[in-house]
Amino acid sequence: MSGRHFAPESEQPENFAWSAENQAVVTDTLSKYPDNRAASAVIPMLDLAQRQEGWVSRAAIEVIADQLDMAPIRVMEVASFYTMFNLAPIGKYHVQVCGTTPCWLRGVDQVYAALKEECGIGNGQTSEDGLFTVTEVECLGACVNAPMVQINDDYYEDLDKDNFKGLLRALRNGEDPKTNSQTGRQSSEAAGGATALTEVDFSVRHSRKLNGNASEPSVPEQAAPSSAPEEDQQPALDDPARPPALDGARENQADDLKKINGVGPKIEEILNDLGVYHYDQVAAWTPEQVAWVDGYLKFKGRIDREDWIEQANKLAGDA
Ligand code: FES
Repeated sequence: MSGRHFAPESEQPENFAWSAENQAVVTDTLSKYPDNRAASAVIPMLDLAQRQEGWVSRAAIEVIADQLDMAPIRVMEVASFYTMFNLAPIGKYHVQVCGTTPCWLRGVDQVYAALKEECGIGNGQTSEDGLFTVTEVECLGACVNAPMVQINDDYYEDLDKDNFKGLLRALRNGEDPKTNSQTGRQSSEAAGGATALTEVDFSVRHSRKLNGNASEPSVPEQAAPSSAPEEDQQPALDDPARPPALDGARENQADDLKKINGVGPKIEEILNDLGVYHYDQVAAWTPEQVAWVDGYLKFKGRIDREDWIEQANKLAGDA
């Protein structure tokens, strides 16, 4: 891992303040934690500060510490531990190069060679045009498509010197290059192409987009192969056990289903697609309806384990 240093005093801003938009995000973030557990919000708060300013300054750390009732040194410890937080200003594109063994064995040297030839920089440096900053990081969890880098929020995988140079050029030209595998392989299939389940179009199977009717999610166009185990099959949308759906949120004001522990933004989107917008809808699910949703989400009992009904009941009471 590279050495990471706080920006010198001369580069530290005197003050930090949340933008009006981010102040609302802060309020929402803090509402997700009990009052005596506000410190748990330290990572989302640091991330938000970085998204606002591009890096995490000492002034931002002090503001966050104050809001979370933490000692500034504790917030600083978190910010300096995780390489995802920039402790000094960086270029427009933060190139995080994975240097862990699988990426190294699969040719991360070519990634560095491309950076040197195309931008004239190595680890810990920023290009003269201020566009690219390179940081070597530990495994980013995409080893199967090594070598790979993360640039800002996106992954670029299956890299070699030529395709990575092209990618850097595209970014410099303001283009929006293709993310994920640069050789076109789907997910983590074999480098030479899929060797099993070749009849399944996974790109269709996993897409869930609104098809114009808020109460009806799009039905996967291709069903799982008939040989798939039964528990892997999604229940039908017209199954009588499906919970009642609304055409839209009442008074256009959906409840924040993410307040139910276990519901993230993706799951909330799927629930909304299913016509579920309110805590009281979830609270009213019968055991059969819970089983239907559980099967639809392929949760294998998570709804019961996380007690969504009880949580939704409480949230409906508080609303
Ligand atoms: S080793 Fe590079 S992503 Fe895991």
